[in-house]
Amino acid sequence: MSPTSPPPPIRLATPTDLPSLPALQLAAGEAFRSIGMAEIADNPPPRAEDFAPHQQLGQLWVTVDDSDRPQGFVLVRLLDGCAHVEQVSVHPAAAGRGLGRELIDHVAGWAAGRGLAALTLSTFRSVPWNAPYYRRLGFRELPHEDLTPGLRQVLTEEAAFGLDLSDRVCMRRPVTAAGQESVRSSE
Ligand SMILES: CC(C)(COP(=O)(O)OP(=O)(O)OC[C@H]1O[C@@H](n2cnc3c(N)ncnc32)[C@H](O)[C@@H]1OP(=O)(O)O)[C@@H](O)C(=O)NCCC(=O)NCCS
Repeated sequence: MSPTSPPPPIRLATPTDLPSLPALQLAAGEAFRSIGMAEIADNPPPRAEDFAPHQQLGQLWVTVDDSDRPQGFVLVRLLDGCAHVEQVSVHPAAAGRGLGRELIDHVAGWAAGRGLAALTLSTFRSVPWNAPYYRRLGFRELPHEDLTPGLRQVLTEEAAFGLDLSDRVCMRRPVTAAGQESVRSSE
């Protein structure tokens, strides 16, 4: 995409989109293999029907190509008054063009419209396109004492799933009242 191209369309997911999302998430996760985290790459994605409740709640958005096919998606749920980003995935064929950033900003605008305080997420501290990337998008690491009950539960579930909690971090990005994100880091 050239610097003058308009941002790609982001829209709420429809039932028609759902069958493509598991393969999209699996393809995005392949990147973990290159850094010795094959177990993450091999983790089966949710099934199409698992996305349906989120789609029906209007908490699942896709970014689409010229043919209206999803190239990426972001899925959130409400957690302790915040929009918790459960998953954001961009297909490798479309990666590195800012689609991930646009999806996060889109959710931030949605969250602002609902009066939510912040976006939250949990992610890998050491993976270059996880915590360091989110820091550049304006997220900040939450110290353990600042974790909300819901975020503590997220970490408990991740530990039960087998993730190494020493490499997991919860992050938060405040939502601006206007819905236009001004929190951009120059890091
Ligand atoms: C994270 C993800 C959604 C970003 O999507 P994207 O559309 O490529 O995002 P952007 O184009 O906005 O930015 C990509 C960033 O990742 C960084 N990045 C990507 N691959 C990288 C790598 N191998 N090493 C270092 N940095 C990397 C880029 O430098 C870029 O950062 P910058 O914008 O600050 O320069 C996408 O990489 C992805 O789907 N990853 C696999 C799934 C995942 O880890 N999801 C997040 C946890 S739920």
